[in-house]
Amino acid sequence: MTTETSTRTRVLTGITTTGTPHLGNYVGAIRPTVQASRNPATQGFYFLADYHALIKCDEPARIQRSTLEIAASWIAAGLDPERVMFYRQSDIPEIPELTWFLTCVTGKGVLNRAHAYKASVDKNNAAGNDPDADVSAGLFMYPVLMGADILMFKAHKVPVGRDQIQHIEMARDMASSFNHLYGEHLVLPEAVIEESVALLPGLDGRKMSKSYDNTIPLFSSSAQLKKLIASIVTDSRAPGEAKDTEGSALFQIYQAFASPEETADLAKAYADGIAWGDAKQVLFERIDREVAPMRAQYEELISNPAKVDALLLKGAAKARELATPFIKELRHAVGLRALASAGSNNVGTKQARTAIPSFKQYREKDGQFYFKLVDPQGKVLLQSLGFTSPKDAGLAIARLQENTPLAITELGPQVVLGHEVSIDLVLASIDSLVSEIAERVKSKG
Ligand code: TRP
Repeated sequence: MTTETSTRTRVLTGITTTGTPHLGNYVGAIRPTVQASRNPATQGFYFLADYHALIKCDEPARIQRSTLEIAASWIAAGLDPERVMFYRQSDIPEIPELTWFLTCVTGKGVLNRAHAYKASVDKNNAAGNDPDADVSAGLFMYPVLMGADILMFKAHKVPVGRDQIQHIEMARDMASSFNHLYGEHLVLPEAVIEESVALLPGLDGRKMSKSYDNTIPLFSSSAQLKKLIASIVTDSRAPGEAKDTEGSALFQIYQAFASPEETADLAKAYADGIAWGDAKQVLFERIDREVAPMRAQYEELISNPAKVDALLLKGAAKARELATPFIKELRHAVGLRALASAGSNNVGTKQARTAIPSFKQYREKDGQFYFKLVDPQGKVLLQSLGFTSPKDAGLAIARLQENTPLAITELGPQVVLGHEVSIDLVLASIDSLVSEIAERVKSKG
């Protein structure tokens, strides 16, 4: 196992490069992520998922443009590439290589159940088409590529939208399967859903989304921003008539930018019958106040794409300092290794698998993370109590592996491990089991 010098929690997320960042992306992803990236207890990995973009977009110019716009937006919004890993997926050749390794440990049936693929199949079935009509193998493999993104950098936490939770679960399963076959190399990630982050309504009141064509670009000119805000749908109440904040897209957008005091003031103005035109002016000024200072840097980066290229390449070089040795370790683990190299350990051979017990990590319905040590016949030798994060469970496993030679092949009674039990106690109980086995072996002989 590679030893990590950093004990920081690794947080990783990717942004598919198919569109122009809009206010919904800013409020829902960019702004909270930039804030979170300043937490010294975490190491951030943020990347432009341009391989993923190819799955849904066949316009090369659009992918190129979107990559530039998204990169420039994140930097302008305050992401510090010196502090975090900020890179482009396609600059990391280790990712497609890991994708293949994971492809080989992922059941096809598992991918059949992935939401995005299933949605396409359901649509085809409903239309009486061939179930796989217009479904590319890329769409089918989407979760595996995403698993490689995550597992490549041993991410602990992956902040995503609800629609992506299943993909994180799949990445966990891929990691478990790989580890089971080849030893504990991959770290099991956990999805993080930011409940408090606002879902922004768009111009027509539905969720702001490119697919509804109701977005306000994050970086339009002041004049454009003003014009778009003027087109937000309102009801027909006249100036002087009290207005409802409930269900008002304008109000909700304002709230996502304003302080609680400012929001209360606008609520009062609504009750007092503010004219829609005036309310729109208030909203425009509030958004422009936040966006204007970032606009200059955004424009500067957009007009200097070479600068963004350099920045991303530097980020990729930094990321590959981790990825290159790790893929080497994984290549060796699966048997892609120098013919002259000693097959140093036998982990991964069928023989080894039947000879030593292995750790399995999993998540229970209670949302907690557990592990167990199972012998090759599937008998549970050790069973942990729940941990709140897979990272903690992984650490406990690592400590067990470090501290015990794991010559435990024939443990009868179950030992219960948990974070409230000190590691010494655990080791003591393992010791006593080992002597019990020794006793039993003696009595047999
Ligand atoms: N699929 C994600 C989305 O559409 C983007 C993505 C690609 C991603 N790879 C990732 C997110 C890895 C988190 C981790 O939103």
